[in-house]
Amino acid sequence: MEEKLNSRRKVLIGMTAAVGASGVPFAAVPFLSAWNPSAKAKAVGAPVKVDISKIQVGQKIQVAWRKQPVFVIRHSAEALQNLSRLEDKLDDPQSINIDEPYRDINPTRSTSKEFTVIAGVCTHLGCSPKYYPEMEPQPWDEAWIGGFFCPCHGSMFDIVGRVFKGVPAPTNLKVPPHNFKGNILTIGEDKELT
Ligand code: FES
Repeated sequence: MEEKLNSRRKVLIGMTAAVGASGVPFAAVPFLSAWNPSAKAKAVGAPVKVDISKIQVGQKIQVAWRKQPVFVIRHSAEALQNLSRLEDKLDDPQSINIDEPYRDINPTRSTSKEFTVIAGVCTHLGCSPKYYPEMEPQPWDEAWIGGFFCPCHGSMFDIVGRVFKGVPAPTNLKVPPHNFKGNILTIGEDKELT
């Protein structure tokens, strides 16, 4: 069983690394080249479109918007249900202390019931937190049920980017403006709320 878990973990980590290395979700490459604005337009902050149809449950992909990493995570129903178990450990579970664009719409913090869209930039000093989705003890938390860990100074966030109490990061990870239309996620504008 342990061996099976280990190999599954390797697959998950491998997928994340492959996506992270390219900076663009593998499933979206042909699509993006056809739809996205020029590199110059993107540099000044034009919206980025992402085809989310190939993102697996539990997977995180990374895209670039305004030269910053943005994480898109597809959650299982079980993972979202587990979020309520964490409330006591979180510093700001309702995101009261930040400008939260889609407060109280979904537990995902996004306009989707299934996907979270968050800046991949630690709110302490700007490192990129790493995704550890497995529910298993970690060196930094014996009761880990999945989330993000920042390797720079040890900040912890849950799977929707809410910061734990007592860590260096002062606030939750930020949610960029976005909207979903069918299988297309647009990061950078929220006009087409669905
Ligand atoms: S930059 Fe993430 S904990 Fe310091």
